[in-house]
Amino acid sequence: MTKKNYFQISTAIDYPTNFPHAGHLYEKICTDVIARWKRLQGFKVHFSTGLDEFGSKVAKCAKAKGMEPQKFVDYMSQFFLKLCKLYNISYDDFIRTTEKRHEKIVNEIFMKNYDNGDIYKGEYEGLYCVDCETFYLEKDLDNGYCPIHKKPAEVVREESYFFKMSKYQERLIKYIKENPSFIRPEKKRNEMLNRLKEPLRDLSVSRTSVDWGIRLPIDKKHTNYIWQTALINYLTTVDYPNKKFKDFWPCLHIVGSDIIWHHSIIWGSFLMSAGIELPEIFVHGFVNIKGQKMSKSSGVVVDPLKLTDKYPADAIRYFLIREITFGHDGDFSEEALKERLNNELANDLGNLVSRSLTMVEKYFDGKIPKGKNELKFDIEKIKKLMENYELTNALSEIWKFVQEINRYINKEKPWENEKRRETVLYSVLDSIKIVSILLSSFIPETCEKISKQLGFEIKSLKDCKTNLLKEGKIKRGEILFKKVE
Ligand code: MSP
Repeated sequence: MTKKNYFQISTAIDYPTNFPHAGHLYEKICTDVIARWKRLQGFKVHFSTGLDEFGSKVAKCAKAKGMEPQKFVDYMSQFFLKLCKLYNISYDDFIRTTEKRHEKIVNEIFMKNYDNGDIYKGEYEGLYCVDCETFYLEKDLDNGYCPIHKKPAEVVREESYFFKMSKYQERLIKYIKENPSFIRPEKKRNEMLNRLKEPLRDLSVSRTSVDWGIRLPIDKKHTNYIWQTALINYLTTVDYPNKKFKDFWPCLHIVGSDIIWHHSIIWGSFLMSAGIELPEIFVHGFVNIKGQKMSKSSGVVVDPLKLTDKYPADAIRYFLIREITFGHDGDFSEEALKERLNNELANDLGNLVSRSLTMVEKYFDGKIPKGKNELKFDIEKIKKLMENYELTNALSEIWKFVQEINRYINKEKPWENEKRRETVLYSVLDSIKIVSILLSSFIPETCEKISKQLGFEIKSLKDCKTNLLKEGKIKRGEILFKKVE
C-alpha cells in the first residue's frame, strides 16, 4: 500500500488518566522498530504517537486530583513524553488532542460527514452507570447491575447526534474481504467479519452531558464523541488535507486488540463517509503478567519509567520484542528479562564485540585487518519477515547470525591460529557490522555504540553486504551490557 517512498505509521494515542505502563510501552517499541526499519530501507517516515486527552474519564480523574482538566493533562503528558525519551521512541509527531490544530481537523471531518448526509439528530437511550460514566448494553450488566460498581444502571435519555454507520456495513464487508492487508493478522480480520454478521447500529457521536470535549460546529450544546475526536488525530499529524497528507496517507495503525473495532469499523466508516482512503491496521497482543492483562484498573502493572533504573532501555526493547510474538499475547517477567539480558545480549552480542575488538588491539595494533568475509547471511529472509511485520521472527533470525559469528570465531580460534587470524578477524568485524545495521531498529543505542567502535555509520540496509567494512582504527569502548544477577 505504501505510496512512492513515503510511509506513515502510528501508535494508538494513550489515555493520560494514569501513568504509562509496559503495555503502552510495548506498542510504542513495536511501532518504533517498524518506523526505524522503514527509514533504513530509505522511506521517508512519519511516525506519530500521543495522547487522547478529552472525555469524561479524563475530566473525572482531573477532578479527583483537584485540577482543571487542561492542567491535569499538561501534567500527565510529561510522563508519556519521558517514556518515549527513555526508550528512544523515534516519533516525528507527538500529538495531544487538546491542541488547537486538532480541533480544526475534527470539525472539518465532522462537517464532511454532515454534508454527506451521514449525521442526524436523535435521542440516545442507554443503560448508564454514573460511577463509570459509561453506557452499557443489557447483556453486559449483571441482571441490570453494573458489573464493576454493583449498582443498578439507570436508563438515560439524552439528545445526541448520530452517525449513519449502518449505511456502511456492506461497503465495509466488501472492503475487508477485498483488502487482506486492511486488518492483520488474519484472525483479527475474521473476527471483524464475524461481528459484521450482526446489523451495524448507527453511532452516537455527540454528548450534551460531557463538557470536556470539542464543541460540535453545528451545535455548541454538544461535544464530539471522544473516539471520533481521537481517531482523527491520524489525519491531524499529517496536516490533512495538505501536502504532507497527500504524500503520506494512508497510515499503518499499530493498535492493541481491544480497539480493533474502533480502528477498522468505526474509523473505516468515518473515512468512507469523508471520501478518504482507508488505512491499514496491524493488531498486536497484550503484555500480560502471569497470564493477566496489564492495566491500571486491575492493578497489575509494570512501571516502565522505573524499569530503566535496573535495566538498559535496549535490553527491555529487545526482551519485549523477542519474548512476545508480535500479534500474540505474551508474558512479562523480570526473570525472563534477566535471562535474555545475560545470555543473549551480554554473552552472545556483548562478549562477541568485546573479545573481537580486544584481539584487534592485541594483534593488529587496533587497526581493522584486511581480508575477505567468509561468512554468509540471508538478508532477504529477514527483509521478508519484516515486510510481513513478523518482528519477533525477524529478530530471532538476526540472532542466529550473531550465534553463527560466535560459532565461527570459536571454531577458528584466531588467538591460536596466526595464519588465519587476519581473515577470521576481518570476517568477524565485517559480520558484526552487518548484524548491527540489522539490529539497529531493535536496539538502536547499542548498535550506535558498536558502529562508533568499529568506525562505520548506520544509514541504510543497502550497506548490509559483506566486505564493505573499511580499514581504519577501532575505538574500543565500554562493554555493551553488564550482567544482572
Ligand atoms: N485512547 C484510546 C486509543 C485511541 S486511538 C485513536 C486507548 N487508550 S489506552 O491508553 O487505553 O490504550 C492505548 C494502547 O495501548 C491501545 O492500543 C491498547 O491496546 C494498548 N494497551 C493497553 N494495555 C495493553 C497491554 N497490557 N498490552 C499491550 N498493549 C496494551 O485505548
